[in-house]
Amino acid sequence: MRVIILGGDGYLGWPTAMRFAALGHEVMVVDNYLRRNIAQETCSEALMPNPNLTERVRIFEEISRYKIRVEIGDCCDFSFIEKVFAGFQPKAVVHYAEQPSAPYSMIGYTEALKTFNNNLNATFNVIWAVIQHCPNCHIIKLGTMGEYGTPNIDIEEGWLEIEHKGRKDKFLYPRQAGSLYHTTKVLDTDLLWFYVRLYGIRVTDLMQGPVYGLSTTEVNLDERLMPNFHYDDIFGTVVNRFLVQAVAGAPLTVYGRGGQTRGYLNLEDTLQCVELAMDSPAEAGQLRILNQFTEVFSVNELAEKVQMVGNRMGLKVQIKAIDNPRKEKEEHYYSVKHHGLLELGLQPHFMTDDIIAKMLEKVIRCKRNIDIRKIMPRVVWNK
Ligand SMILES: NC(=O)c1ccc[n+]([C@@H]2O[C@H](COP(=O)([O-])OP(=O)(O)OC[C@H]3O[C@@H](n4cnc5c(N)ncnc54)[C@H](O)[C@@H]3O)[C@@H](O)[C@H]2O)c1
Repeated sequence: MRVIILGGDGYLGWPTAMRFAALGHEVMVVDNYLRRNIAQETCSEALMPNPNLTERVRIFEEISRYKIRVEIGDCCDFSFIEKVFAGFQPKAVVHYAEQPSAPYSMIGYTEALKTFNNNLNATFNVIWAVIQHCPNCHIIKLGTMGEYGTPNIDIEEGWLEIEHKGRKDKFLYPRQAGSLYHTTKVLDTDLLWFYVRLYGIRVTDLMQGPVYGLSTTEVNLDERLMPNFHYDDIFGTVVNRFLVQAVAGAPLTVYGRGGQTRGYLNLEDTLQCVELAMDSPAEAGQLRILNQFTEVFSVNELAEKVQMVGNRMGLKVQIKAIDNPRKEKEEHYYSVKHHGLLELGLQPHFMTDDIIAKMLEKVIRCKRNIDIRKIMPRVVWNK
C-alpha cells in the first residue's frame, strides 16, 4: 500500500515509517522540522542526538534494505502538500504533523497562535489534498485523549447518544480540553467531521493517550535509528521526566496532588494501532473514533513505579510534590471506554517493571547529556 506519514521525523512518525516500510508498504515521510526548531528555540533539545530525516532514511536503508521516500516541506503550504498527494497517490495518510506540546502552546500569544495556525492549517490542507487528488485515501489522524478532558461521567469512544425531551440523537462526545494545543485537536476533529459529512471522505481519528518507550523492532537495529526522547518541561512527557530525574539523582517532581489520571500506551502499541486502523479502514463517509491507550495511571502511581524500579537498580529515587503549573483537576473521576482497537486485534504491551528498567538503562547510557535545569516547569497556565 502507498502510505504517507506526515510528521515523519517525529517521535511517533519515524518508528511508524520504519515499521510500515518493513511490512512491505511503499512509504513516504514528510516533515518540516518544526519540532527540532522549537526545541532549539526553547532549549528543549532531546537527550540523544538524532540524525536528520534524510540521514536516518539512508541509515535505515543501508541496514535493512527498506526504502523510504523523503519530502521536506510544510503541510501548511497547500501548493507543496497537494503536489505530494497528487504525485504519490496514497491509499492512506497518517497525520502526525502538528505542534504537540501543551506547555509550548500556553507560553503566550505568539506560541498559541503558531500552534493554532500550524495544527488547523495542516489538517485543513490534508483534507483538501485528499478531496482534490485522492478522495478514496484513508486519513488516519492522531487526536488525543486530552480532547475529552476529565468529565465527571464515563468517557465513551468518540460519540454520545443523547435523549432530550423524548427524542434521541448521536453527537460527538462533549470535549473540554485543558490547553490550547489540546483545543486545536478538538477543532481538528470538528473539521474532519464536517468534511466527512460533506464529501464522504474516510477518516479514523485516534484519541491517543501519552506514549512512552524507545524500543521497537526497527529502532533496535541501530542506535542512530532511535526516535527523539525529550525530557524537558516543554516536550518531555511525565514518564520521560521521571525516568531522567531518577537517573540524575533529582526527585521526581509531581505536579500538585498527583491524582491526575490518564490512559498510557507503549510506542510498540501506537505502531500496532495505526497499522490495525490502516488494515481495516473507515468506510467512505465515516468518522471512526478510537480511544488509543492500554493502561490507566495517576501521576502518583507512575512516580511510585519509577521509584520502585529505580531503587531496585540502586538509584535512590525520591518523590517531591511541587506547585502545579497547569490548570487541571488533581483528583477526578476517570472511566474511559477503549474497546475498538482491542476488537481490531490490539495485543497490548504493558508497563512492566522490566520495561521501566530497560528505559532507565537507555537513559543511564546517556547520563552525561542530562541538563537537569530543563525539567522544572517554565510555563505556567493563566499566570
Ligand atoms: N507522543 C504522544 O505521547 C502523543 C499523545 C497523544 C497524541 N499525540 C499526537 O501524535 C502526533 C505525533 O506526536 P509526536 O509525539 O510524534 O510529536 P513530534 O513533535 O515528535 O512529531 C510531530 C512531527 O510533525 C512535524 N510537523 C509539525 N508541523 C508540521 C508541518 N506543518 N509540516 C510538516 N511537519 C510538521 C514536526 O516537525 C515533528 O517532527 C501529534 O499530532 C500529537 O499531537 C502524541
